[in-house]
Amino acid sequence: MPKLDTMEAVEVEVKACRKCELWRSRKNAVPGEGNPDAAVMFIGEAPGYWEDVKGRPFVGAAGKLLDEMLSRVGFSRGEVYIANVVKCRPPENRDPLPSEIKTCTPYLDRQIRIIEPRFIVTLGRHAASYILPKAGFETGSITKIHGRVYEANLLGFKVFIIPMHHPAAALYNVKYRDKLDKDFELLKLELEKRR
Ligand code: URA
Ligand code: SF4
Repeated sequence: MPKLDTMEAVEVEVKACRKCELWRSRKNAVPGEGNPDAAVMFIGEAPGYWEDVKGRPFVGAAGKLLDEMLSRVGFSRGEVYIANVVKCRPPENRDPLPSEIKTCTPYLDRQIRIIEPRFIVTLGRHAASYILPKAGFETGSITKIHGRVYEANLLGFKVFIIPMHHPAAALYNVKYRDKLDKDFELLKLELEKRR
């Protein structure tokens, strides 16, 4: 019988991965972290400066905001799982290229399959436009698609997808901060409803 895939195996592979050119400029790959049995999985875009330095997701300014939002809905970082679409930092924080997304996302898919979360929260445009079409939904600008729960079948299991603005956007625009606040309220309600 084939050995079951584990989060640790994925993390080890990601740390040594050289499948796309992003390995050349990274300091550390950032596989993701948290509870492999999490009910809620957060998916961001790609590591930024501090994530690359530390090898951990969302540890910079956007991460502080994410932590704040998490504690408001009663979660600590260790209870959820936090990952990114792309595991190595694109130079100067540029957008990841379609080819990089294509090469890297088999890791994310494996992580999703291992966790089988009840909820997936996508943070920002790149995560939404990777996850929603995979579940058969049309994607669009975050402003249009956020604030809703998509009941989906993803990679063979049932999951509720909640697209949100990226916390980095909320840091420089108070309008997005309000929307992110409201969407975390929505997540909280949904969690209570479906517990
Ligand atoms: N932004 C992201 O999308 N991911 C991180 O890990 C940090 C910042
Ligand atoms: Fe490998 Fe992904 Fe890093 Fe590219 S971004 S080197 S595919 S882990």
